[in-house]
Amino acid sequence: MREAADLVRARLGALSPRIALVAGSGLGSLVGEVEGAVRIPYADIPRFPVSAVSGHAGELVAGMLAGVPVIVLSGRVHYYEAGDAAAMRPALEMLRDLGVDILALTNAAGSVNPGIAPGEVMLIEDHINFSGLNPLIGERSEARFTGMTTAYDPDLRAAMVRGAQEAGVPMHEGVYMWFSGPSFETPAEVRMARRLGADAVGMSTVPETILARFLGLRVVAASVVTNFGAGMTGEELSHDETKEIAPQGGAKLARILKAALPEFI
Ligand code: HPA
Repeated sequence: MREAADLVRARLGALSPRIALVAGSGLGSLVGEVEGAVRIPYADIPRFPVSAVSGHAGELVAGMLAGVPVIVLSGRVHYYEAGDAAAMRPALEMLRDLGVDILALTNAAGSVNPGIAPGEVMLIEDHINFSGLNPLIGERSEARFTGMTTAYDPDLRAAMVRGAQEAGVPMHEGVYMWFSGPSFETPAEVRMARRLGADAVGMSTVPETILARFLGLRVVAASVVTNFGAGMTGEELSHDETKEIAPQGGAKLARILKAALPEFI
């Protein structure tokens, strides 16, 4: 991946961000707020994973956000696209090679907690990997035994809580449970998720968090809640609903992130 990092570094010039942000569904508006943006389509970066999910752009955008140099990955590859839990590994390795040491992950998720409603934001305090998958399977170095006790960095989480207060945006904190997708959960699975301690369910983020911790990056992650989990309202879930609701919560999360970013480093 040195080749990829070299290519991106050459395009960034004097900019050397330590923070990278993965913009999931709904965070498109944040990408538009990057100042002095250098935009590089993923397809132009060697070995960079490209997503084909609608609602997910595929470009790296680097520039200044809230006065802080950042790299925004607009769009991500999901496990369910090709059955590869380590699909994002080349992208995260490239970020590390560029000098990034903080990764902020965002996603759209379903709430399994009646107290967390669609359109609201949830900071991920911990996760449950319910997929049975792990992006480090097959990795041979000792580093594969990655500790996950503080996977979601306590200091970065505290910065997000302060950011939410500063921005005046309510933010929940909770546990995110990873399902492989792409089908949504059943009502029984949603009830199970709740009983097992989850607050939200989704199809991304967990493999990236595991990979990032393996690579030595500090992680902070937040969900934009687009719907109540299957069976909680009697309505069928759909990707169209995710795409429609995500920007509302996404705008809130963008405000929190902008307030918190200067405190990350
Ligand atoms: N389940 C899984 N992933 C999701 C959901 C959901 O209900 N909503 C948005 N992404």
